[in-house]
Amino acid sequence: MTDTTPADASAPAPARVRVSGDQPYDVVIGRHLLGELPSLLGDGVRRVLVVHPAALAATADVVHEDLKASGYEAFVAEVPDAEEAKTAQVAAFLWGVLGQADFTRSDAIVTVGGGATTDLGGFVAATWLRGIRVVHVPTTLLAMVDAAVGGKTGINTAEGKNLVGSFHPPAGVLCDLASLESLGRWDFVAGLAEVVKTGFIADERILELVEEHAEALREWGVRETTPETWAVVAELVERSVAVKARVVGEDLKESGLREILNYGHTLGHAVELTERYQWRHGAAVSVGMVFAAELARLAGKLDDDVVERHRTILGTLGLPLTYRGDRWEQLLSAMRRDKKSRGDLLRFVVLDDVARPTRLEGPDPTLLAAAYAEISADAPVGRGPVAL
Ligand code: GLY
Repeated sequence: MTDTTPADASAPAPARVRVSGDQPYDVVIGRHLLGELPSLLGDGVRRVLVVHPAALAATADVVHEDLKASGYEAFVAEVPDAEEAKTAQVAAFLWGVLGQADFTRSDAIVTVGGGATTDLGGFVAATWLRGIRVVHVPTTLLAMVDAAVGGKTGINTAEGKNLVGSFHPPAGVLCDLASLESLGRWDFVAGLAEVVKTGFIADERILELVEEHAEALREWGVRETTPETWAVVAELVERSVAVKARVVGEDLKESGLREILNYGHTLGHAVELTERYQWRHGAAVSVGMVFAAELARLAGKLDDDVVERHRTILGTLGLPLTYRGDRWEQLLSAMRRDKKSRGDLLRFVVLDDVARPTRLEGPDPTLLAAAYAEISADAPVGRGPVAL
């Protein structure tokens, strides 16, 4: 959101995706969206705390000034960048800010940032006075299509990521596509991994769009983005958000359908852990999707051409397709310890076909090892630029 001027008559009307549930909310996608903030915050809000990392201080300032101009008593709080923000200490700092400014149950938080900021700000909103309103203003592609939508909030502990948290749906989400202008190339491409995931589990048109425009998407920030590519990005965000909205609207607490959003994540999380979180999330999920596709193929569920389609799309974007051959045992034990596995049984989301997700529970160890052999690189060469 580098350009946050509230009014621009030439900008196309924003798209709105409704997320249903006990407290339905809108995800607004477009440009120059600040004018939308008061209606998303809703009636009765008097004080608003804008939470942001240092790198987004200028954007947060614009939001802060705009809130003040709209009549709110507005405050800002800077938090550390990325995962450093997701600690009990930073949450306690924000609780302190809310307490000192006398935030009541009818006040609100606005987060401006990537997934770590929305997770943290959402968690603080969920816990302050047992829950106040939060509006997310995600500034990365990953946060727009995933973290900001669906109400998952949380912080990390010394024992692992997202171990403390709650489901706290936001009052609204503002995806200002102008924020993506300053996003680094590989951060953008890593975000596309989640977009591609959404295509494989639920919307083939997403895959077609990425296939048609892969070169331009891969060159994000390297050459000037054409109006055609902007239109494609807007459609990809809207379609991805629409899928997520449908899934979380039906299953907020991940008791069934929501699990499909974890396509590629079982192995992906294990890769992230093995790499001590030095890989981008999207890069790890890319490898995880190729693994899940191979697993489904070996289990007799998925045709070869869909497996190859995974490699072609993800590979053309510059995402990694393989991982170290010598890490299988480590990955396997990380997957067993994952909080989403049930007991000792490993569960994978796999595909019967594009947009036909299903589960594979407790696959035979030889099947798992065979699928891993299909994606393993002999040496640690499989990371690709996006992983760095
Ligand atoms: N990131 C997966 C979910 O929101 O359920």
